[in-house]
Amino acid sequence: MKIGFIGAGKVGFSMGKYLTGRGIEVTGYYSRNPESSLEAANFTDTKQFLDLEQLVGDSDAIFLTVPDGEIASVWEQLKELPIQGKIISHFSGAQSSDIFSERGRIPAYGYSIHPLFAFNDKYSSYKDADRAFYAIEGDSEKMADIRRLLEIMGSGYTVISAQNKIRYHAAASIVSNLYVGLTSMAEQILTECGFAPDDAHRAFSPLIMNNARNIVSYGTEGALTGPVERSDIATVEGHIANLSQKQSEVYKMLSAEVLEVAKRKHPDRDYQEMEKIL
Ligand SMILES: NC(=O)c1ccc[n+]([C@@H]2O[C@H](COP(=O)([O-])OP(=O)(O)OC[C@H]3O[C@@H](n4cnc5c(N)ncnc54)[C@H](OP(=O)(O)O)[C@@H]3O)[C@@H](O)[C@H]2O)c1
Repeated sequence: MKIGFIGAGKVGFSMGKYLTGRGIEVTGYYSRNPESSLEAANFTDTKQFLDLEQLVGDSDAIFLTVPDGEIASVWEQLKELPIQGKIISHFSGAQSSDIFSERGRIPAYGYSIHPLFAFNDKYSSYKDADRAFYAIEGDSEKMADIRRLLEIMGSGYTVISAQNKIRYHAAASIVSNLYVGLTSMAEQILTECGFAPDDAHRAFSPLIMNNARNIVSYGTEGALTGPVERSDIATVEGHIANLSQKQSEVYKMLSAEVLEVAKRKHPDRDYQEMEKIL
């Protein structure tokens, strides 16, 4: 499969470099700014395209690594070109392949290939990209080709439905962005207890690091500790009574999730009383 990229940014650079490193043919780059496409072509030892139609002609698959807000307009341009039989994919987490509208009329196959990975640097992120896990979805006709690509890349992946794409992305937000919000709330509570903000941050660092390491190594059940698991009712009641209303709402909602983990971990234990207070 010969792959051409539209959009020479962080994901375009990184995916192109990673794919060429795995022996997959990348034709080259077209981008809004010719300097970007030239830079990406040099970095990946591929070709710069100044004409979109030429990139389309030279490639079996067109990967749109443009910002989410640009996908629809690039698709509008592609629709006017000879894309018969081509694979068209974007890399957005929130958007599905449904963004490639009129696929019944336009004879191309639409996909989304989303890496659960942060590409923060055009020149170095590809080095760790073998750790990325992907969610893919789109037309059934060429799904075998997309699967084969992921297999050559050596990447884990799951095929999901277009309908589930936004739900999937919400889960990714929970585990990453929402965790930032949770940490910020906990640091705020420490400052309310008299910690300087820097100390609050420093104090939590070992807990955060160990917890993340344990979740990754042992899963949620293996990593679980604390008063909900131990069924320590007095402590949990004390926590709830001493938090602000917003904080206690978050505490109770997440503790109810923690309780589900505890129940899976200890199916023999009686958590009825804990269930009542949460
Ligand atoms: N970064 C991540 O960690 C990450 C992770 C997973 C998925 N994604 C997804 O990957 C996609 C790309 O993200 P990114 O982080 O690589 O963005 P980015 O670094 O901002 O790069 C986007 C590139 O697209 C080019 N571009 C913008 N509008 C264009 C247009 N109309 N036609 C042609 N080229 C255009 C820009 O080119 P010029 O330089 O030429 O102006 C820019 O270099 C997004 O859908 C994003 O959601 C990103």
